Amino acid sequence: MYSEKVMEHFLCPKNVGELENPSGVGTVGNAKCGDIMKVYLQIEDNVIQDAKFKTFGCGAAIATSSIATELVIGKTVEEALTVTNKAVMEALDGLPPAKVHCSCLAEEALHAALWDYAQKNDIHIKGLEAPKSDIGHDESHENGGD
Ligand code: FES
Repeated sequence: MYSEKVMEHFLCPKNVGELENPSGVGTVGNAKCGDIMKVYLQIEDNVIQDAKFKTFGCGAAIATSSIATELVIGKTVEEALTVTNKAVMEALDGLPPAKVHCSCLAEEALHAALWDYAQKNDIHIKGLEAPKSDIGHDESHENGGD
């Protein structure tokens, strides 16, 4: 049911973990399956130098996170937008229909991390829209107000 590529990235995922001082972080979840994906990006001079992820989810979610982080490293923030769920699925030699949403989660997590980076640096990334489901609002608020 799964391609060899999916199995490879599920069994030996690349870029698992987190970055200490990420330029952007995106956390997204799928309400139906309950899976959660968090992507960290290190961006310097507009280029993604490093990417890590932590995924609480199914095998396909882990495989798509792994390949998505692999695909964006070395890309500019604009080029990273070409890493869509379709690109992720192609790189994995396809996913079963019931697992297509897992690749959408990877695209959303990447976009959420890029959005976070753009917000923090007050920049506009052409073609990037605000994430619909960024659920990671827990870490940047250290105090409740003034
Ligand atoms: Fe929902 Fe894979 S089953 S992300």
